[in-house]
Amino acid sequence: MKKILYSQRQNQVTLEIDTKQDGIIMGLTNVIKVLLIEDNIAEARLLHEVLKGSTRQEFDLFHEKRLKNALNTLGNQRFDIILLDLTLPDSQGLDSLLPIISQNSYIPIVVLTNMNDEELALEAVRKGAQDYLVKRHITLDILVRSICYAIERKQMEEKLREANQTLEKRVKERTNQLLKAQELNQLKSEFVSMLSHDFRNPLNTILLSAGLLEDSYEQLTREQQLSYFQMIRDAVRDMNQLLSEVLLLGKADSGKLKTNFIELDLKLFCQQIIHSLHLSFEDKNQIILNFNRDFPTELELWDEKLLWHILHNLLSNALKYSSQGGKIFLNIIAEEKSVTFSVKDQGIGISQESQKHLFEPFYRADNVGSISGTGLGLSIVRKCVEAYNGDIFVESELDHGTTFTVILPRQQPLPSKIGESVEQRQSSVSYHESTKRFSS
Ligand SMILES: Nc1ncnc2c1ncn2[C@@H]1O[C@H](COP(=O)(O)OP(=O)(O)OP(=O)(O)O)[C@@H](O)[C@H]1O
Ligand SMILES: [Mg+2]
Repeated sequence: MKKILYSQRQNQVTLEIDTKQDGIIMGLTNVIKVLLIEDNIAEARLLHEVLKGSTRQEFDLFHEKRLKNALNTLGNQRFDIILLDLTLPDSQGLDSLLPIISQNSYIPIVVLTNMNDEELALEAVRKGAQDYLVKRHITLDILVRSICYAIERKQMEEKLREANQTLEKRVKERTNQLLKAQELNQLKSEFVSMLSHDFRNPLNTILLSAGLLEDSYEQLTREQQLSYFQMIRDAVRDMNQLLSEVLLLGKADSGKLKTNFIELDLKLFCQQIIHSLHLSFEDKNQIILNFNRDFPTELELWDEKLLWHILHNLLSNALKYSSQGGKIFLNIIAEEKSVTFSVKDQGIGISQESQKHLFEPFYRADNVGSISGTGLGLSIVRKCVEAYNGDIFVESELDHGTTFTVILPRQQPLPSKIGESVEQRQSSVSYHESTKRFSS
């Protein structure tokens, strides 16, 4: 039973070895690689001897005398623990500790101090060292115990840090989810209040007209009676239209707005939408349709319903928000992979601020004046473009006009139909009985 007692009095070193109590390493069976950073060779040699005396745990000690060299070595080799003297020729006190921690945050550090340095050692532990040893009190037992304790403590710290990070991440995710849910709830309640408001107007019209007809039917002229009946009909039509739009948006929100491609003659399809709009707007403005010169003549696959909602809403807006006589252009350009539709008007325009909110349900810009609308058209257009995997942009200048541009991907033609022209296949096209049907 020998004991190593580490003491240094005026360069005199005493050694005694005690092998009885050095088996305290918990779960560490491999060789422990130790980097000793110590400028005093005698002390380094002594520590080497102390560690050699351990019978249950093997240590592999590597010695550096300068901090700079130690940092280089740490860059090239992996160690299980660092024993660090706080008084080195090229660095003093905590100045030695911090660069080591920032370069190797995963390695535990035991600080070696002199008798009168304990305050500094404690500060080192506060700053990230795992333990400290007063050189004069080092024995094999204390040294091995401290090394093992530092390694264990560092491992626990790392686990705790990882657990903390995971927890923080989860808290962040949960907070985001809650915020989103809150936002969604707010949107929903806004949606419901706007919807109730928009339903109340036509309902009031119906109530008033029906009341007047009931109370004063005999006193009203035939013309007045018919006009009240017409008002009731219009109100019912508006409510029906509103309901269809809300249902369509609901479908899009729950991911049920799916594409359904059929063969379509795009030119004819656009001409029909324009024709029906000219009728309902009583030729207030002229819509001019242009296709690029080499626009394909073959039938192509399009989702007729989505395309109808997109073009119908954009063209109705162009008509609604233009003064009488202003020209409206629908330009369609086919490229290899996509088709670009742009609807250009010379109407009232949209301010930069309003452009940010255009696609929000029920949003209407300040400059609409008495032009009627619910503010749902562009939300529907956006949902349809999204369902199509396309893009939509707006450019506008107040009092000068607006251009909406929609880019939709072209679908691959059916292999059996490649090369067939519109004329050859037109007899089989059945989509154009009535474009109106999409509005309900
Ligand atoms: N071409 C346009 N020129 C000027 N303003 C436009 C144009 N298109 C849309 N807007 C502005 O964007 C708002 C939203 O348009 P959106 O089509 O969603 O609703 P709306 O036309 O008001 O009503 P509806 O639901 O009946 O279409 C409009 O109220 C209007 O302020
Ligand atoms: Mg509209």
